[in-house]
Amino acid sequence: MIIHSPDALESIRQEAVKLLSVREDCNNSSSVKAAGLEKGTPRIQVLCCGGTGCKASESARIVDCLRESLQAHGVAEKVDVVVPGCFGFCEKGPIVKIIPDNTFYTSVRPEDVEEIVTSHIVGGNRVERLLYQDPRTGEHISDSKHMNFYRKQMRIALRNCGFIDPENILEYIARDGYKALASSLTRDSLEVLSDIKSSGLRGRGGAGFPTGVKWEIARKFDAPEKYVVCNADEGDPGAFMDRSIMEGDPHSVIEAMMICGYCINAHHGLIYIRAEYPLAVHRLQVAIAQAREYGLLGKNILGTGFDFEIEIRYGAGAFVCGEETALIHSMEGKRGEPTLKPPFPAEAGYMGRPTNVNNVETLANVPVILTRGPQWFASIGTEKSKGTKVFALAGKINNVGLIEVPMGTTLREIIYDIGGGVKGGKRFKAVQTGGPSGGCLTEKHLDIPIDYESLAAAGSMMGSGGMIVMDEDDCMVSVAKFFLEFTVGESCGKCTPCRIGNKRMLEILTRITDGRGTLEDLDKLETLASVIKDTALCGLGQTSPNPVLSTLSNFREEYEEHVSSHVCRAHKCKALLTYSIDPAKCKGCSACARGCPAEAIVGEVRKPFVINPSLCIRCGMCLSRCKFGAINVI
Ligand SMILES: Cc1cc2nc3c(=O)[nH]c(=O)nc-3n(C[C@H](O)[C@H](O)[C@H](O)COP(=O)(O)O)c2cc1C
Ligand code: SF4
Ligand code: SF4
Ligand code: SF4
Ligand code: FES
Repeated sequence: MIIHSPDALESIRQEAVKLLSVREDCNNSSSVKAAGLEKGTPRIQVLCCGGTGCKASESARIVDCLRESLQAHGVAEKVDVVVPGCFGFCEKGPIVKIIPDNTFYTSVRPEDVEEIVTSHIVGGNRVERLLYQDPRTGEHISDSKHMNFYRKQMRIALRNCGFIDPENILEYIARDGYKALASSLTRDSLEVLSDIKSSGLRGRGGAGFPTGVKWEIARKFDAPEKYVVCNADEGDPGAFMDRSIMEGDPHSVIEAMMICGYCINAHHGLIYIRAEYPLAVHRLQVAIAQAREYGLLGKNILGTGFDFEIEIRYGAGAFVCGEETALIHSMEGKRGEPTLKPPFPAEAGYMGRPTNVNNVETLANVPVILTRGPQWFASIGTEKSKGTKVFALAGKINNVGLIEVPMGTTLREIIYDIGGGVKGGKRFKAVQTGGPSGGCLTEKHLDIPIDYESLAAAGSMMGSGGMIVMDEDDCMVSVAKFFLEFTVGESCGKCTPCRIGNKRMLEILTRITDGRGTLEDLDKLETLASVIKDTALCGLGQTSPNPVLSTLSNFREEYEEHVSSHVCRAHKCKALLTYSIDPAKCKGCSACARGCPAEAIVGEVRKPFVINPSLCIRCGMCLSRCKFGAINVI
């Protein structure tokens, strides 16, 4: 069915809205009572998360079991099973949500389905044991609106994730989908561009460059062919916001690419996505096919005379291929290596033609900025960083998942209010923002409002939105080494400072964690880091020393302990550990000696045993074997 005009789209939207009205109403209300067919609820919807995280925990089987059980109970006609994208609370997945009472079931197993159907869907009684339990109060919470994890969030880029069926274009249209495109195509493209500029939207891919300005530059270069590229490479370890958007709301990316094309006078879009994201690829393919079927992609879109086509290009998963020039080379079939800028892609990008590259999350903001107005968007956030930011909250935190908060929210609010605090009641030590390009921030940074400038001033960066929380058991030297190992492995090797300099830094860090470091090594690290930052060719090398520099600056005493006292206070650096037996606690049971692979423990039964430090290989076996707490590790 081809939609021939903006008016025809509006008629379809008005019909489609009915599809989602119950879900929309639930979004805006709170229901205390559970719905149930026997209690007179006429229709029920079951939303079962179809994001990659929940799929990995058998959510697809839950969907099958649901459909079978509903059939078996003769109620399939009255219950819709919907598979939306990620709800964000992946750690508690698979998530199953019941509409109209908004019950949010967590950690659902296929075995739980029968009870959900009989007890809740038919009988109208919630299954209490599957409700989220607040870690602080122990209280069971049935509606996600009342969970701390969601309370401080504001979902703009993630507005449709966990809400609509991403494989049904009508559900997207019902949420004002393609409305921004339709109105843009009837306006002067300069006006549309000016809205994006005045919204204050900045690139979410890392650098925070103003999106409207970028479009304006690309618009200025004239060429027979121009390109809009969506950067869906998402190589930061731990980051999965772009994947979730593509899995949960692929049409928002497609719509935004077309609006960008209209503004810069391009008719060809390319989505560069890593092949390791099969579900996101599938959802994009379905969305592109549906958009074509509705005439929202292709020739003479909505009868306005505007043509646009989108192709998907696959990356092989190299971190450096997320850098825009390397990405373009990779799409051209060349080695995925960066080149010096200028020329910027806006002037000479894909096939030497003007190319605008934007990140997935950046693009997902575009349609809603135009439908709700640039002033609305600009009213959210801080003076220089407008709107919201999606973070992948991970590490030693109670609530792990994908969150979206207004710019200016503090790290404390994210970690303690949304994240529920540090896991196991341990002491907070640091938070790494910005992935391998970012830095480790400490307690003293917890109250800074998160925006591009504040994070950079604190010695870290926004990056694409990775956020890893660390506790007292984390060794900051090992953390720096972990990130450097990643960048060394991912360096393309084109320029010397990154190829060789980072390797030398890693060797120094390895010496330190092996107990062979010296105080001079710390100075060498600092010198090397600043040279690499200043001389590396691309952003990968220029930012790779950040984890080392930030840990050196915020946790220098830990580095000094490693080199001067040969102590790792977090007990993470194996080579620095000393195992001994406390004679007062040892019962002489011999369990440790029997388990020691190095035969380093000797003694007589029922008398205290002793460890020979020269034979000990620090494997930790004795610690796990001793039931009397007699093994000391320092
Ligand atoms: C090593 C490296 C990796 C990058 N990886 C990504 C990525 O995975 N996704 C992304 O959108 N931007 C990535 N970028 C930033 C891109 O080069 C580019 O700035 C961005 O796609 C522009 O889009 P934006 O303005 O919407 O942020 C990376 C940059 C560097 C230096
Ligand atoms: S900085 Fe590293 S990744 Fe970038 S071009 Fe140089 S070697 Fe390649
Ligand atoms: S296992 Fe514990 S109690 Fe038993 S001999 Fe070893 S140290 Fe002593
Ligand atoms: S740490 Fe391993 S090698 Fe060392 S004493 Fe214990 S069991 Fe033996
Ligand atoms: S994948 Fe299901 S909640 Fe994230």
